[in-house]
Amino acid sequence: MNSHLDPRSPIGVFDSGVGGLTVVRALMERLPFESIHYFGDTARVPYGVKSVQTIAHYTTQIAEFLLEKRVKVLIIACNTMAAVASQVVRDLSPTPVLDVIEAGALTALAATQSRRIGVIGTPTTINSNAYSRAIHAIEPDARIFSQACALFVPLVEEGWLDHPVTRLTAQEYLKPVLAEQVDTLVLGCTHYPLLKPLLQEAAGPAITLVDSAEAMAEQTAALLTDLNLHNPERTPPDYHYWVTDVPLRFQTIGERFLGRGLNNVHVVAW
Ligand code: DGL
Repeated sequence: MNSHLDPRSPIGVFDSGVGGLTVVRALMERLPFESIHYFGDTARVPYGVKSVQTIAHYTTQIAEFLLEKRVKVLIIACNTMAAVASQVVRDLSPTPVLDVIEAGALTALAATQSRRIGVIGTPTTINSNAYSRAIHAIEPDARIFSQACALFVPLVEEGWLDHPVTRLTAQEYLKPVLAEQVDTLVLGCTHYPLLKPLLQEAAGPAITLVDSAEAMAEQTAALLTDLNLHNPERTPPDYHYWVTDVPLRFQTIGERFLGRGLNNVHVVAW
């Protein structure tokens, strides 16, 4: 099935908005010769509070769009989409599909010693139980303690990465999870890697934070190796960004997520 895939083709990455750029950033660092097409559904974000049917419908549209760009791998960078619609994407995609939940689950299990794992994410991700299912599929004896953190996405988008309000919010959200003596905490949302220093402080130094963006980049590199799909070219890669709303806010916030300038932003008129 994969023999027709071209190693020179780009990697497709998608998210409900700007947050998936944390995955793009990790990919750029880990795989500097791979071109990337990123899709952020900025007109319809946030997904984390929408129904499963709506998310599945949007996810299908985005996956089909990127497949038309002939991507060699599709990466679901959004935890919410991965939680409720990853099977939809796998069913329609002729190319391999990776998602952040699988990557996060594997990394959490590699990190934990007590097998008591905390998971934080959007309400839809947490209500779906997708992380528990993914972790239990590999390690049935693991104990999972999850917490929906609806306020983190707007706080990150506001740029309050080191703000007293965010610190207080984190303490409140983490209290019940920390009471369960977890030794590992999965950051189960695209936006949370930007809160890593603050969350590490709130959780304490003994707890390992699992950043699904880094885990995703590692898993992508392993997949490209397995399928012999690393780009053989050593020229600078192309990065393209597709968004559904006017790109100004995407560009401004995106540069913070990416830690570098952001060009080639195109608006998709749906
Ligand atoms: N990308 C979403 C996630 O990772 C967060 C933003 C949203 O709610 O759409 O869960």
